[in-house]
Amino acid sequence: MSSPKPALKAGIPCHVGIVMDGNGRWAKAKDKARLDGHREGASRARDVVQWAHDLGIRQLSLYAFSTENWDRPKLEVRGLMSLLATLLPRELPMMHEKNVRLRVLGDISALPSAARRAVELACTETAGNSGIDLILCLNYGGQQEIIAGIKHFARQLLADANPEQLLQDLSVQSFRSYLWRNELRPVDLLIRTGGESRISNFHLWDAAYAELYFTDCLWPDFSFAELDRALQDYASRERRFGRTSEQLAK
Ligand code: FPP
Repeated sequence: MSSPKPALKAGIPCHVGIVMDGNGRWAKAKDKARLDGHREGASRARDVVQWAHDLGIRQLSLYAFSTENWDRPKLEVRGLMSLLATLLPRELPMMHEKNVRLRVLGDISALPSAARRAVELACTETAGNSGIDLILCLNYGGQQEIIAGIKHFARQLLADANPEQLLQDLSVQSFRSYLWRNELRPVDLLIRTGGESRISNFHLWDAAYAELYFTDCLWPDFSFAELDRALQDYASRERRFGRTSEQLAK
């Protein structure tokens, strides 16, 4: 799908993360099943990947299934997993056309085998693409990622000949290498649809200086115009990273 012309002036974020909320309410309003909402949501995810590619966004992360989503009704979880297993192989031609490299953030070992295999295959098949990284966050939780990072670091400490030095050297920058997101860029813009103003355990480490954008739009209704509005809003922000405006002007 080609993108309409954006009204953007400046400042395309490198990494955009999206909490795709509102599928259930979209379905309910149309007297449909929740899974129909997720199916329509998956179509919007497909659209947004192509728009992001065309706009020059380098990394797009989509919160597709959180560590907490396992607590949903079994039928809904099963439906989401089978959507993943059936839709991903179908999207391979689009991913090649748009030069998309698929990557995963989260522990996919817990996924049903058909879904896990579809994800692994799509990652392998697209590993040589270089236009945009699509990061599917699956069985992902920011707190779980930080705990995994602490365990990883602690194991290194226990095995290291000079643990005191390793401890001394630990910094915000170096701790990143113990996280799952080691190779990801920090999130520049975090969008959440569906009218709620919270992060819900998404990208906690990188939410530190992400610009947050909340919209009432339900995810299945998300459009290019909505994305463009979020990007224009982002471009109007002054990212100070703790410094003053005067310092930035120098
Ligand atoms: C939140 O909406 C959405 C999800 C928990 C799943 C997001 C999934 C997709 C967009 C489909 C593509 C992903 C997969 C795994 C195939 P909600 O259900 O909480 O909506 P509500 O708040 O209106 O109930």
